[in-house]
Amino acid sequence: MAKVFVFDHPLIQHKLTYIRDKNTGTKEFRELVDEVATLMAFEITRDMPLEDFEVETPVQKTTSKVLSGKKIGLVPILRAGIGMVDGILKLIPAAKVGHIGLYRDPETLMPVEYYAKLPSDVEERDFIVVDPMLATGGSAVEAINSLKKRGAKQIKFMCLIAAPEGVEVLQKAHPEVDIYIAALDEKLNDHGYIVPGLGDAGDRLFGTK
Ligand code: PRP
Ligand code: URA
Repeated sequence: MAKVFVFDHPLIQHKLTYIRDKNTGTKEFRELVDEVATLMAFEITRDMPLEDFEVETPVQKTTSKVLSGKKIGLVPILRAGIGMVDGILKLIPAAKVGHIGLYRDPETLMPVEYYAKLPSDVEERDFIVVDPMLATGGSAVEAINSLKKRGAKQIKFMCLIAAPEGVEVLQKAHPEVDIYIAALDEKLNDHGYIVPGLGDAGDRLFGTK
């Protein structure tokens, strides 16, 4: 079964509070999502493999460590996932970025795919799928289906806020995909919004409504 990791670092929790606040405007919301994405990237890369590297310091030669060249693919789910990309790329700038476009049909809440463009070497990369919200889980499940269909083998899912319902759905559909979140909220409301959540992530990031 997929593991769920809650990144409850004080800085993440502090910034998430202001992200939730309905009085936080678009500019600040965007900046905070970017900052939290960077902090989460720091945590999610904790298990990256290292290899020995010979280096000569001004004092003597020594063996030190460098990342062992693992290829990372970052896949934001459009639109709101885009808000997390730059923050993650600050720490892993060599990652290639694919995009999967999905929207939730407001009546059925089912995800509809309208775009998919991934790096050409899909099979060789470890993917991190990002989206601020995991609500019913439909979008995350569909995005990961889409990635797997195109050959992806290693996938993690990272979001800011998850509902228990979404975690369960994602775990059932993709039991090998670990889930990394900043907060596990209480529930979904009748419109499929996370309670207490942060509202509509895409609208708050891009100033639409
Ligand atoms: C939001 C959010 C997720 C999805 C989560 O996107 O960014 O992608 O809902 O809901 P789910 O877990 O129930 O599928 P939305 O469909 O509002 O599209 P947008 O990013 O274009 O605003
Ligand atoms: N999508 C959002 O943007 N917010 C929610 O609470 C649920 C889905």
